[in-house]
Amino acid sequence: MEFQWYPGHMTKAKRQMQEDIKLIDLVIELVDARIPVSSRNPDIDELGRQKARLILLNKADLADDRVTAQWKDYFLGQGYFVVTLDARNRKSMKEITQVIMDACEKKMQRDRARGIKNRPIRAMVVGIPNVGKSTFINSYAGKACAKTGNKPGVTKGKQWIRLNKNVELLDTPGILWPKFEDQTVGLHLACIGSIKDELLLTEELAVELCKILSQRYPGALAQRYQIDEKTAEANILEQIAIQRNCRSKGNVLDYNKAALAVLDDFRSGALGKISLEFPEMAEKTTETDGMS
Ligand code: G4P
Repeated sequence: MEFQWYPGHMTKAKRQMQEDIKLIDLVIELVDARIPVSSRNPDIDELGRQKARLILLNKADLADDRVTAQWKDYFLGQGYFVVTLDARNRKSMKEITQVIMDACEKKMQRDRARGIKNRPIRAMVVGIPNVGKSTFINSYAGKACAKTGNKPGVTKGKQWIRLNKNVELLDTPGILWPKFEDQTVGLHLACIGSIKDELLLTEELAVELCKILSQRYPGALAQRYQIDEKTAEANILEQIAIQRNCRSKGNVLDYNKAALAVLDDFRSGALGKISLEFPEMAEKTTETDGMS
């Protein structure tokens, strides 16, 4: 399966981010908990060097809790601060301010040593499109989002959201693009719906997704569609189309409809809480200088 997707404004966005990052203390990076490797752009490690780093494993409500916990340990082990999140849920925000303070403890100590007291931490949200940046900013800032702008020392035109006495957030998130270093990245991004459908062959994608599901979550497809996963491997869409009565004109089986049903069910969580990437995969590819 071939993916080609090169947004033209990538360089401009990266330059903008380089500028914005100079203004902040902390990079809050959102990744999709179901595919934490493919939904990151590793350039952020270079851009965010010298800054405190917080990774939010977002959309955790759709991911496998056990695997998300493993990813949390994995990123903690790499020196990031990490919070598992459903950005739509305000209640998940409680933990974040404390973690932000912890992540910026060294900076606050430096400030204190220089006699600077109570300077708020400045943070910026970054992530690939559709990972939940705006949702997070809305939930986290909530009603408290008194905007502060054009203050001395702040680049003209930049808007900061004052969250509380300790934290200010740059109101526009930084957009990163995924890095298509191998086909798996494209496949996984397409599965979660982050690449536009017209760029893809829906049926091929659904078949690939079914393969991952049968391997990692045996029984999930069988339970949802009442099919025999073992015998269905070769003609999985046909079996789903039969069971779901996906038919087009002339009562012909419609594989495309079946494929869309599988993709929708996966994306909405109807197939269960499912992760497509696992820490052992990242470790393997890091060793061979691949995905990470
Ligand atoms: P972005 O700024 O990074 O591009 O992402 P955005 O916040 O627009 O979120 C993209 C989609 O993901 C939205 O759905 C949003 O509701 C959903 N979303 C964000 N965080 C979470 C989460 O933690 N869990 C789940 N399940 N969904 C999340 P949408 O369908 O595009 O819009 P809407 O119908 O929700 O308005």
